[in-house]
Amino acid sequence: MADSFSLNDALSGSGNPNPQGWPGAWGNQPGSGAGGYPGASYPGAYPGQAPPGAYPGQAPPGAYPSPAAPGAYPGPTAPGAYPGPTAPGAYPGPTAPGAYPGQPSAPGAYPSAPGAAPYGTPAGPLTVPYDLPLPGGVTPRMLVTILGTVKPDANRLALDFKRGNDVAFHFNPRFKENNSRVIVCNTKVDNSWGREERQAAFPFESGKPFKIQVLVEPDHFKVAVNDAHLLQYNHRMRNLKEISKLSISGDINLTSASYAMI
Ligand code: GAL
Repeated sequence: MADSFSLNDALSGSGNPNPQGWPGAWGNQPGSGAGGYPGASYPGAYPGQAPPGAYPGQAPPGAYPSPAAPGAYPGPTAPGAYPGPTAPGAYPGPTAPGAYPGQPSAPGAYPSAPGAAPYGTPAGPLTVPYDLPLPGGVTPRMLVTILGTVKPDANRLALDFKRGNDVAFHFNPRFKENNSRVIVCNTKVDNSWGREERQAAFPFESGKPFKIQVLVEPDHFKVAVNDAHLLQYNHRMRNLKEISKLSISGDINLTSASYAMI
């Protein structure tokens, strides 16, 4: 649709085969994943991840790649935090065998898009509920990435992009609502929830690792889970610069929460 043309074009040029406009290796990958988890290549694999021992597009363990471009990486620098971007367009996800869940993976595992600069929290596990400050609010081309593992027998998890006490975007997977699973999205203003937007597609599984990516676009938040586009949520709070915190809660072990401009 029209509102994603400019981002698509900027990222991929014309003839973009990726109509959702996600950066890197998005969408359904050929191969493997049973049950709608594209890219999972061995039992327990983080969806989209390489098999043990493979390091596509990234440095071997122990290496600490420097930023792709001077000034591109003003984020965390401590060893074991975030490495800089690796191969343009590569999105290998966590790769080191045994590195997930519970800790960030090998260097090079995180974003992704050319010139992407990861910010936010470098190392896990993180205490839940967890607040990720978004200084200056959100803005188009901001990509927020959350990695974690759903606890066994989970009931719910939630992301809340907040403007003060208001919630601009509530993303709330519910595992046990009337014996079914549903994702509820909503906005809360002055302590009142608005009209719910419900999504039946449900890519989360109790006990399994997940990756949530929220890309801010001019008219909506766009959400992918495990590298597959899931939903869009039109902005109801228009002052994006005031949406300055992401609260992460629910029945998960949280590995990392970070953001980058793409
Ligand atoms: C309520 C629930 C809130 C929030 C809201 C979304 O029922 O208590 O946590 O999920 O729905 O509409």
